[in-house]
Amino acid sequence: MLSETPAIDIRGLTRVFESRKGFLFREATRTEALRGIDLTVERGAIFGLLGPNGAGKTTLTKILSTLLLPSTGTAMVLGHNVVREADWLRPRMGLVLGGERGLYNRVSGRENLRYFADLYGVPLAERERRIAELISRVDLDWAADRRVEEYSRGMKQKLHIARGILHRPEILFLDEPTIGLDPKSAREIRKLVRSLVADGVTIFLTTHYMFEAEELCPEIAILSKGRIVARDTVAALRQLVGGDRTLEAEAYGFDDREVEALRALPGVSKILSEEFGPALRLTLRVRTGETQPEDVRALLPNHPELSVRERRTSLEDVYLDLVEEEGH
Ligand SMILES: Nc1ncnc2c1ncn2[C@@H]1O[C@H](COP(=O)(O)OP(=O)(O)OP(=O)(O)O)[C@@H](O)[C@H]1O
Ligand SMILES: [Mg+2]
Repeated sequence: MLSETPAIDIRGLTRVFESRKGFLFREATRTEALRGIDLTVERGAIFGLLGPNGAGKTTLTKILSTLLLPSTGTAMVLGHNVVREADWLRPRMGLVLGGERGLYNRVSGRENLRYFADLYGVPLAERERRIAELISRVDLDWAADRRVEEYSRGMKQKLHIARGILHRPEILFLDEPTIGLDPKSAREIRKLVRSLVADGVTIFLTTHYMFEAEELCPEIAILSKGRIVARDTVAALRQLVGGDRTLEAEAYGFDDREVEALRALPGVSKILSEEFGPALRLTLRVRTGETQPEDVRALLPNHPELSVRERRTSLEDVYLDLVEEEGH
Protein backbone atom coordinates (compact mmCIF):
# COMPACT_ATOMS: atom_id res chain seq x y z
CA MET A 1 0.00 0.00 0.00
CA LEU A 2 1.20 3.43 -0.92
CA SER A 3 0.29 4.97 2.43
CA GLU A 4 2.61 2.52 4.16
CA THR A 5 5.69 3.70 2.32
CA PRO A 6 7.90 6.00 4.40
CA ALA A 7 7.63 9.76 3.97
CA ILE A 8 11.27 9.84 2.90
CA ASP A 9 13.55 7.02 1.83
CA ILE A 10 17.06 7.92 0.72
CA ARG A 11 19.71 5.48 -0.52
CA GLY A 12 23.32 6.27 -1.28
CA LEU A 13 22.57 9.86 -2.16
CA THR A 14 25.45 12.08 -3.24
CA ARG A 15 25.68 15.57 -4.63
CA VAL A 16 28.79 17.16 -6.04
CA PHE A 17 29.03 20.84 -7.00
CA GLU A 18 31.53 21.70 -9.66
CA SER A 19 32.30 25.32 -10.30
CA ARG A 20 35.06 27.34 -11.94
CA LYS A 21 36.82 30.27 -10.40
CA GLY A 22 38.93 32.94 -12.13
CA PHE A 23 38.77 34.30 -15.65
CA LEU A 24 41.94 33.43 -17.56
CA PHE A 25 43.21 30.47 -15.61
CA ARG A 26 39.96 28.82 -14.73
CA GLU A 27 40.43 26.73 -11.69
CA ALA A 28 37.92 23.95 -11.11
CA THR A 29 36.60 23.49 -7.61
CA ARG A 30 34.72 20.42 -6.58
CA THR A 31 32.57 20.26 -3.45
CA GLU A 32 31.12 17.01 -2.25
CA ALA A 33 28.10 18.44 -0.45
CA LEU A 34 26.50 15.04 0.19
CA ARG A 35 28.69 11.94 0.44
CA GLY A 36 26.35 8.97 0.54
CA ILE A 37 23.21 9.58 2.56
CA ASP A 38 20.96 6.72 3.70
CA LEU A 39 17.93 7.87 5.64
CA THR A 40 14.36 6.78 6.23
CA VAL A 41 11.77 9.07 7.77
CA GLU A 42 8.33 7.81 8.75
CA ARG A 43 5.16 9.74 8.04
CA GLY A 44 3.23 11.92 10.43
CA ALA A 45 5.90 13.53 12.60
CA ILE A 46 8.50 16.27 12.57
CA PHE A 47 11.95 15.02 11.65
CA GLY A 48 14.86 17.29 12.52
CA LEU A 49 18.08 17.63 10.56
CA LEU A 50 20.95 19.32 12.40
CA GLY A 51 24.48 20.04 11.33
CA PRO A 52 27.15 22.74 11.11
CA ASN A 53 27.23 25.41 8.42
CA GLY A 54 28.06 23.82 5.10
CA ALA A 55 27.12 20.28 6.24
CA GLY A 56 24.69 19.84 3.33
CA LYS A 57 21.30 20.43 4.99
CA THR A 58 19.97 22.87 2.41
CA THR A 59 21.36 20.76 -0.43
CA LEU A 60 19.52 17.70 0.91
CA THR A 61 16.32 19.70 1.46
CA LYS A 62 16.46 21.01 -2.09
CA ILE A 63 17.00 17.56 -3.56
CA LEU A 64 14.08 16.13 -1.58
CA SER A 65 11.84 18.96 -2.72
CA THR A 66 12.87 18.48 -6.40
CA LEU A 67 14.66 21.84 -6.69
CA LEU A 68 18.04 20.23 -7.21
CA LEU A 69 19.13 16.98 -8.85
CA PRO A 70 21.25 14.45 -6.98
CA SER A 71 24.57 13.31 -8.48
CA THR A 72 24.08 9.62 -7.62
CA GLY A 73 21.79 7.53 -5.45
CA THR A 74 18.03 7.65 -5.06
CA ALA A 75 15.58 9.66 -3.00
CA MET A 76 11.95 8.68 -2.65
CA VAL A 77 9.38 11.00 -1.10
CA LEU A 78 5.87 9.65 -0.35
CA GLY A 79 6.93 6.54 -2.24
CA HIS A 80 7.83 8.45 -5.42
CA ASN A 81 11.18 9.17 -6.99
CA VAL A 82 12.19 12.84 -6.67
CA VAL A 83 13.86 12.85 -10.09
CA ARG A 84 11.59 10.71 -12.24
CA GLU A 85 8.31 11.57 -10.54
CA ALA A 86 8.88 15.22 -9.70
CA ASP A 87 5.65 16.26 -11.43
CA TRP A 88 3.61 13.91 -9.28
CA LEU A 89 5.38 15.07 -6.15
CA ARG A 90 5.41 18.84 -6.53
CA PRO A 91 1.71 19.46 -5.78
CA ARG A 92 2.00 17.21 -2.74
CA MET A 93 4.89 18.95 -1.07
CA GLY A 94 5.66 22.38 0.30
CA LEU A 95 9.00 24.09 0.75
CA VAL A 96 9.93 27.04 2.92
CA LEU A 97 13.51 28.17 2.64
CA GLY A 98 14.87 30.58 5.24
CA GLY A 99 15.46 34.17 4.21
CA GLU A 100 13.38 36.91 2.75
CA ARG A 101 13.30 36.06 -0.94
CA GLY A 102 10.34 34.64 -2.82
CA LEU A 103 7.61 37.10 -1.88
CA TYR A 104 6.30 40.08 -3.82
CA ASN A 105 7.06 43.11 -1.69
CA ARG A 106 4.98 45.64 -3.55
CA VAL A 107 1.66 43.93 -2.96
CA SER A 108 -0.18 42.78 0.14
CA GLY A 109 0.19 39.46 1.93
CA ARG A 110 -3.26 38.45 0.73
CA GLU A 111 -2.38 39.28 -2.89
CA ASN A 112 0.79 37.25 -2.59
CA LEU A 113 -1.25 34.26 -1.48
CA ARG A 114 -3.72 34.80 -4.35
CA TYR A 115 -0.85 34.73 -6.80
CA PHE A 116 0.55 31.49 -5.40
CA ALA A 117 -2.94 29.94 -5.11
CA ASP A 118 -3.41 30.48 -8.84
CA LEU A 119 0.04 29.09 -9.53
CA TYR A 120 -0.73 25.96 -7.51
CA GLY A 121 -4.12 25.59 -9.18
CA VAL A 122 -6.27 26.14 -6.09
CA PRO A 123 -9.85 26.26 -7.47
CA LEU A 124 -11.10 29.83 -7.75
CA ALA A 125 -14.30 29.03 -5.86
CA GLU A 126 -12.24 27.97 -2.88
CA ARG A 127 -9.41 30.43 -3.15
CA GLU A 128 -10.60 33.36 -0.99
CA ARG A 129 -11.91 31.14 1.80
CA ARG A 130 -8.71 29.13 1.95
CA ILE A 131 -6.55 32.26 1.95
CA ALA A 132 -8.60 33.85 4.75
CA GLU A 133 -8.29 30.65 6.78
CA LEU A 134 -4.53 30.56 6.31
CA ILE A 135 -4.09 34.21 7.16
CA SER A 136 -5.80 33.73 10.48
CA ARG A 137 -3.93 30.50 11.09
CA VAL A 138 -0.63 32.39 10.88
CA ASP A 139 -2.07 35.34 12.86
CA LEU A 140 -1.71 37.88 10.09
CA ASP A 141 -5.35 39.02 9.88
CA TRP A 142 -4.43 42.51 11.03
CA ALA A 143 -1.77 42.92 8.34
CA ALA A 144 -3.13 40.85 5.46
CA ASP A 145 -3.92 43.87 3.32
CA ARG A 146 -0.72 45.76 4.01
CA ARG A 147 2.14 45.62 1.55
CA VAL A 148 4.71 42.95 2.32
CA GLU A 149 7.51 45.55 2.24
CA GLU A 150 6.05 46.85 5.50
CA TYR A 151 6.24 43.42 7.13
CA SER A 152 8.80 42.52 9.79
CA ARG A 153 10.96 39.46 9.29
CA GLY A 154 8.70 37.35 11.50
CA MET A 155 5.60 38.42 9.57
CA LYS A 156 7.31 37.55 6.29
CA GLN A 157 8.26 34.16 7.65
CA LYS A 158 4.65 33.50 8.63
CA LEU A 159 3.57 34.48 5.14
CA HIS A 160 6.22 32.14 3.70
CA ILE A 161 4.78 29.30 5.73
CA ALA A 162 1.24 30.19 4.67
CA ARG A 163 2.44 30.08 1.06
CA GLY A 164 4.14 26.73 1.71
CA ILE A 165 0.91 25.10 2.91
CA LEU A 166 -1.55 26.86 0.60
CA HIS A 167 -1.94 23.80 -1.61
CA ARG A 168 -2.31 21.48 1.41
CA PRO A 169 0.85 19.47 0.94
CA GLU A 170 1.30 16.06 2.55
CA ILE A 171 4.90 16.83 3.38
CA LEU A 172 6.49 20.16 4.21
CA PHE A 173 10.20 21.00 4.08
CA LEU A 174 11.24 23.82 6.39
CA ASP A 175 14.81 25.04 6.11
CA GLU A 176 15.62 27.02 9.27
CA PRO A 177 12.07 28.32 9.74
CA THR A 178 12.86 30.45 12.79
CA ILE A 179 16.21 31.91 11.75
CA GLY A 180 16.59 35.50 12.89
CA LEU A 181 13.24 35.63 14.67
CA ASP A 182 12.73 37.02 18.15
CA PRO A 183 11.79 34.45 20.82
CA LYS A 184 8.08 35.26 20.70
CA SER A 185 7.82 35.05 16.90
CA ALA A 186 9.92 31.87 16.89
CA ARG A 187 7.59 30.36 19.44
CA GLU A 188 4.56 31.23 17.31
CA ILE A 189 6.15 29.56 14.31
CA ARG A 190 6.86 26.43 16.37
CA LYS A 191 3.26 26.35 17.53
CA LEU A 192 2.12 26.63 13.93
CA VAL A 193 4.47 23.83 12.88
CA ARG A 194 3.10 21.58 15.63
CA SER A 195 -0.46 22.31 14.56
CA LEU A 196 0.39 21.15 11.04
CA VAL A 197 1.58 17.81 12.36
CA ALA A 198 -1.69 17.50 14.24
CA ASP A 199 -3.37 17.83 10.83
CA GLY A 200 -1.31 14.90 9.54
CA VAL A 201 1.39 16.77 7.61
CA THR A 202 4.88 15.23 7.75
CA ILE A 203 7.55 17.84 8.40
CA PHE A 204 11.24 17.75 7.57
CA LEU A 205 12.95 20.59 9.38
CA THR A 206 16.49 21.90 9.56
CA THR A 207 17.58 24.11 12.42
CA HIS A 208 20.61 25.40 14.28
CA TYR A 209 18.58 25.80 17.46
CA MET A 210 19.06 22.75 19.63
CA PHE A 211 16.17 23.47 21.97
CA GLU A 212 13.93 23.84 18.94
CA ALA A 213 14.90 20.40 17.67
CA GLU A 214 14.53 18.95 21.15
CA GLU A 215 11.11 20.53 21.56
CA LEU A 216 9.69 19.70 18.14
CA CYS A 217 11.35 16.57 16.83
CA PRO A 218 10.84 13.05 18.21
CA GLU A 219 13.73 11.95 16.01
CA ILE A 220 16.68 13.78 14.56
CA ALA A 221 19.67 13.20 12.33
CA ILE A 222 22.98 14.98 12.53
CA LEU A 223 24.67 15.75 9.26
CA SER A 224 28.35 16.59 9.21
CA LYS A 225 30.46 17.14 6.10
CA GLY A 226 27.88 15.52 3.87
CA ARG A 227 27.40 12.40 5.99
CA ILE A 228 24.84 11.39 8.58
CA VAL A 229 26.80 10.82 11.78
CA ALA A 230 23.84 9.96 14.00
CA ARG A 231 20.12 9.41 13.71
CA ASP A 232 17.88 8.60 16.63
CA THR A 233 15.64 9.96 19.36
CA VAL A 234 17.22 12.61 21.57
CA ALA A 235 17.10 10.17 24.51
CA ALA A 236 18.99 7.51 22.54
CA LEU A 237 21.53 10.06 21.32
CA ARG A 238 22.31 11.00 24.93
CA GLN A 239 23.25 7.38 25.53
CA LEU A 240 25.22 7.29 22.29
CA VAL A 241 27.54 10.02 23.57
CA GLY A 242 28.00 8.13 26.82
CA GLY A 243 25.26 9.09 29.22
CA ASP A 244 22.32 11.30 29.96
CA ARG A 245 24.05 12.96 32.90
CA THR A 246 26.85 15.49 32.66
CA LEU A 247 29.14 16.43 35.55
CA GLU A 248 31.26 19.56 35.31
CA ALA A 249 34.28 20.03 37.55
CA GLU A 250 36.04 23.39 37.57
CA ALA A 251 39.33 24.31 39.22
CA TYR A 252 42.64 26.03 38.41
CA GLY A 253 44.08 23.08 36.53
CA PHE A 254 44.08 19.32 37.00
CA ASP A 255 47.01 16.96 36.60
CA ASP A 256 47.01 13.87 34.40
CA ARG A 257 46.74 11.48 37.34
CA GLU A 258 43.57 13.19 38.53
CA VAL A 259 42.04 13.01 35.07
CA GLU A 260 42.92 9.31 34.82
CA ALA A 261 41.36 8.67 38.25
CA LEU A 262 38.16 10.40 37.13
CA ARG A 263 38.15 8.37 33.94
CA ALA A 264 38.24 5.17 36.00
CA LEU A 265 35.07 6.08 37.93
CA PRO A 266 32.10 3.80 37.19
CA GLY A 267 29.82 4.92 34.36
CA VAL A 268 32.13 7.69 33.13
CA SER A 269 32.43 7.30 29.40
CA LYS A 270 34.11 10.43 28.30
CA ILE A 271 35.96 13.45 29.65
CA LEU A 272 36.35 16.70 27.78
CA SER A 273 38.58 19.47 28.97
CA GLU A 274 38.30 23.16 28.12
CA GLU A 275 39.54 26.45 29.48
CA PHE A 276 36.89 28.42 31.22
CA GLY A 277 38.19 31.89 32.05
CA PRO A 278 41.13 31.40 34.42
CA ALA A 279 39.86 27.93 35.33
CA LEU A 280 39.88 24.59 33.59
CA ARG A 281 36.62 22.74 33.18
CA LEU A 282 36.37 18.98 32.93
CA THR A 283 33.10 17.74 31.50
CA LEU A 284 32.22 14.11 32.27
CA ARG A 285 29.46 12.15 30.54
CA VAL A 286 28.02 9.72 33.05
CA ARG A 287 25.40 6.97 32.85
CA THR A 288 22.30 7.12 35.07
CA GLY A 289 22.79 6.00 38.68
CA GLU A 290 26.58 5.77 38.58
CA THR A 291 29.27 8.27 39.64
CA GLN A 292 27.86 11.17 41.71
CA PRO A 293 29.29 14.72 42.21
CA GLU A 294 30.65 13.72 45.65
CA ASP A 295 32.67 10.88 44.07
CA VAL A 296 34.32 13.46 41.83
CA ARG A 297 34.99 15.79 44.78
CA ALA A 298 36.51 12.93 46.77
CA LEU A 299 39.08 12.32 44.04
CA LEU A 300 40.12 15.99 43.88
CA PRO A 301 40.96 16.91 47.52
CA ASN A 302 43.76 19.35 46.65
CA HIS A 303 41.56 22.00 45.03
CA PRO A 304 39.95 24.34 47.58
CA GLU A 305 38.39 26.31 44.73
CA LEU A 306 36.82 23.20 43.15
CA SER A 307 33.22 23.35 42.03
CA VAL A 308 31.34 20.31 40.76
CA ARG A 309 27.83 20.45 39.38
CA GLU A 310 25.52 18.06 37.67
CA ARG A 311 23.11 18.68 34.83
CA ARG A 312 21.24 16.71 32.24
CA THR A 313 23.15 16.06 29.02
CA SER A 314 21.57 18.41 26.49
CA LEU A 315 21.06 17.95 22.80
CA GLU A 316 23.69 20.64 22.36
CA ASP A 317 26.21 18.45 24.25
CA VAL A 318 25.32 15.50 22.05
CA TYR A 319 25.63 17.61 18.94
CA LEU A 320 29.00 19.07 19.92
CA ASP A 321 30.37 15.64 20.90
CA LEU A 322 29.29 14.07 17.61
CA VAL A 323 30.34 16.93 15.38
CA GLU A 324 33.67 17.23 17.20
CA GLU A 325 34.39 13.56 16.55
CA GLU A 326 34.04 14.39 12.89
CA GLY A 327 36.86 16.89 13.21
CA HIS A 328 34.93 20.16 13.10
N1 LIG B 1 25.25 26.08 -5.86
C1 LIG B 1 26.36 25.69 -5.26
N2 LIG B 1 27.57 25.70 -5.92
C2 LIG B 1 28.69 25.29 -5.32
N3 LIG B 1 28.76 24.83 -4.06
C3 LIG B 1 27.62 24.77 -3.36
C4 LIG B 1 26.36 25.21 -3.91
N4 LIG B 1 25.40 25.05 -2.96
C5 LIG B 1 26.01 24.54 -1.88
N5 LIG B 1 27.33 24.37 -2.11
C6 LIG B 1 28.32 23.82 -1.15
O1 LIG B 1 27.82 22.60 -0.64
C7 LIG B 1 28.12 22.49 0.75
C8 LIG B 1 26.82 22.28 1.53
O2 LIG B 1 26.08 23.48 1.49
P1 LIG B 1 24.62 23.62 2.14
O3 LIG B 1 24.10 24.96 1.78
O4 LIG B 1 23.81 22.44 1.77
O5 LIG B 1 24.97 23.56 3.71
P2 LIG B 1 24.01 23.79 4.96
O6 LIG B 1 24.17 22.59 5.84
O7 LIG B 1 22.65 24.16 4.52
O8 LIG B 1 24.71 25.03 5.69
P3 LIG B 1 24.06 26.25 6.53
O9 LIG B 1 23.87 25.73 7.92
O10 LIG B 1 25.12 27.30 6.49
O11 LIG B 1 22.79 26.67 5.87
C9 LIG B 1 28.90 23.73 1.12
O12 LIG B 1 30.26 23.41 1.07
C10 LIG B 1 28.51 24.72 0.05
O13 LIG B 1 29.55 25.64 -0.18
MG1 LIG C 1 21.44 25.81 4.79
